[in-house]
Amino acid sequence: MDKEYLAKQQVFISEFFKLRNKQQKLIEEIEKLKKKKKAVILVHNYQLPEIYKIADFIGDSLELSRAATKTKAKIIVFCGVDFMAESAKILNPDKIVLLPVLEAKCPMAGQVKIEELKELQKKHPEAATVCYINTSAETKAISDICCTSANVIEVVNSLPNKKIIFVPDKNLAKYVSRYTNKEIISWPGFCYVHHQFLAQKVREAKNAFPKAEVLAHPECPSEVLDLADYVCSTSQMLKRAKESKAKEFIILTEMGMLERLKMEIPDKKFYTPQAKICIQQKKNRLESVYNSLLFEKYKIAVPEVVRIKAKRALDKMLQVSYAR
Ligand code: 13P
Ligand code: SF4
Repeated sequence: MDKEYLAKQQVFISEFFKLRNKQQKLIEEIEKLKKKKKAVILVHNYQLPEIYKIADFIGDSLELSRAATKTKAKIIVFCGVDFMAESAKILNPDKIVLLPVLEAKCPMAGQVKIEELKELQKKHPEAATVCYINTSAETKAISDICCTSANVIEVVNSLPNKKIIFVPDKNLAKYVSRYTNKEIISWPGFCYVHHQFLAQKVREAKNAFPKAEVLAHPECPSEVLDLADYVCSTSQMLKRAKESKAKEFIILTEMGMLERLKMEIPDKKFYTPQAKICIQQKKNRLESVYNSLLFEKYKIAVPEVVRIKAKRALDKMLQVSYAR
């Protein structure tokens, strides 16, 4: 083996251990701060594995909303994106809710234009408005009920209205329309991560791994969902992969979910035909969580008039709340 190669390898190994020691130190400091400040850290499934290590709870949007209603902590640090932290604040006005990185914003949540939605509601006064949890507090405030990928079918079918305005994800709207007799008026929004999945790539993956079960997130386009064995939220993927007799799975959602699956079910295999990453979900790092706890930033604030109305939509969802 040549000397230059060995020298490079030594540098790499020493850098690796430096980084690991730094991460370990940060994890210990975060744990101390968490205790001192009576804080809880809620973590979405798409977060980096290093963030899993400081989590009090890891889950999908529905589970995290439920966890936010149950915690007795004074501070909630939300490792996810803006609408998740905002939902926690809507449900917990007396707690401090922190988002470690302000730029961790879900682009789809910003796709609803309030004035345009009000116009649509005026045009269809008989329709109920269902908003995906991936929306702003303002959108939730003018919606009848909220939903997540885990309960969208139950939520839509729980309503007496025959017409539903559904915001903002057109793929999720198309998915739910398969399971209801109601007329769905869909907003033209989408998630830039899931919208990129291609049916052809899924077919190729199925040919390569014919025994694999296909689990897809309902934010994927409908021609992709047609190829799936199960369409489900991120945490429902975990449940299904644990319970299934299958040993291999093709996973159609953001890459971070594969980390959670591999961590929890190390004896099964998980593949993805396209490695898609949500840049916004990946902005949270151990350093930012540490600073967030230390300086209590960035505090989520929702004007009280908006919060009260938005809470109604979230509460209604939590009452329906049959997790699929
Ligand atoms: P889940 O609620 O299924 O975790 O989905 C959240 C999300 O942002 C999907 O892109
Ligand atoms: Fe938003 Fe899509 Fe990222 Fe989920 S994966 S947080 S929907 S951009």
